[in-house]
Amino acid sequence: MEQVSEGVDALLFRHVVGHLASGVTVLTTAHGHQRFGMTASSVTSLSVNPPTMLACVNNAVPTAAAVARAGKYVVNVLGEDQGRLAHQFAMPDDDKFRDVRVHTGKLGLPVLSDALAHLECEVTEQVDGGTHSVFIGRVRSAVAGQGQPLTYFRGDFGRFEFARDDRVYKKARHQVLSRVYLANEVILLEDLAGELGVDQSSAFYALTRLAADGLVSRDPDRGYVVAQFDVATSDATFDARLAIELGVIELSVGQASPAELAELRARFERMAVLLVGDRFVDFDDYLDANYAFHEWLVGLAHNPLLTATFGGLSIKSVMTRSFGSTPMTSQKFIDVQRELTEAFERADRRAARESARAYCTLAKQRVREILAHTGGRL
Ligand SMILES: Cc1cc2nc3c(=O)[nH]c(=O)nc-3n(C[C@H](O)[C@H](O)[C@H](O)COP(=O)(O)O)c2cc1C
Repeated sequence: MEQVSEGVDALLFRHVVGHLASGVTVLTTAHGHQRFGMTASSVTSLSVNPPTMLACVNNAVPTAAAVARAGKYVVNVLGEDQGRLAHQFAMPDDDKFRDVRVHTGKLGLPVLSDALAHLECEVTEQVDGGTHSVFIGRVRSAVAGQGQPLTYFRGDFGRFEFARDDRVYKKARHQVLSRVYLANEVILLEDLAGELGVDQSSAFYALTRLAADGLVSRDPDRGYVVAQFDVATSDATFDARLAIELGVIELSVGQASPAELAELRARFERMAVLLVGDRFVDFDDYLDANYAFHEWLVGLAHNPLLTATFGGLSIKSVMTRSFGSTPMTSQKFIDVQRELTEAFERADRRAARESARAYCTLAKQRVREILAHTGGRL
């Protein structure tokens, strides 16, 4: 395995550093009559006085040499709907600017007209960063428009959201989970906004996230309707996860590196502190930590198809709709996941299989208990 430094291999480094969310920019420049542009997320402000940016560019890409020769570059900050541009400028191509609206900026460089913001910079220093050059640039012109930025997190593009909207979503989710709204009931945007005391845009945001969670569905005639949840959905989801994990156990027990096992253990410990004495300390945090643990476990097989299938299971939605409806749970969930972690550490495939099966059975039983309390519906 490619080693970045002692104890940190390339796979682990990529995974961990992917958690550092960033904005997405396109760096543009020109040399002679040729225009250059590349997607770059390793771009940040360095100081306010003087206004200075820095950009880290791989020496292997043509844009690096072009910025060095031109001695200037533009940071075009992309807006949330410009994922397509980010892809276009991330691929080597002779005509990167195809179908892109461009004007000439104050430094005579191409500026992407529809970007969210532009910073035109003159290179004051080029620092050697091994495979990359760090271009430090004095900002000569800075212009921002209206809108939200495109973001980059764990290898994927996304949208920025305000913490306030997140709070509204959590309240709305609580309403659905605590059955203020019943299965099949229509939730009107104006009613939800009124009940939560928020504006309609925050309520709409909450509804779209509830739809992504599978808690509500969008009916073309009736609008947002509270989705029904039953034992069959839960069983199918947990059985599918078990099938994937049994496959992963076959492929990876005894093969995982010490760094991978250490990360599995670290994720287990982060999850274990969030379920104490048959209660969730914080269900949302537990859900994230539980997902992160199983995601890493599945990743140990180094099989992108297994990882993608796991990602498509809606595990979080099923757990939210069942376990998320009550703070009460069982310490056994932690015990059996500890056994699973230890089985990987001991390279004991049989014990790992047994723990994975026991965990699946526990989950399915717990959903049945919860549904029994709610008359079979959530
Ligand atoms: C989201 C994202 C961020 C990127 N960030 C950088 C970066 O900061 N520095 C870099 O050298 N390459 C980065 N790349 C890769 C370049 O965009 C890619 O190598 C591009 O083809 C370079 O353009 P060129 O070949 O026309 O010079 C990024 C790619 C993506 C998709």
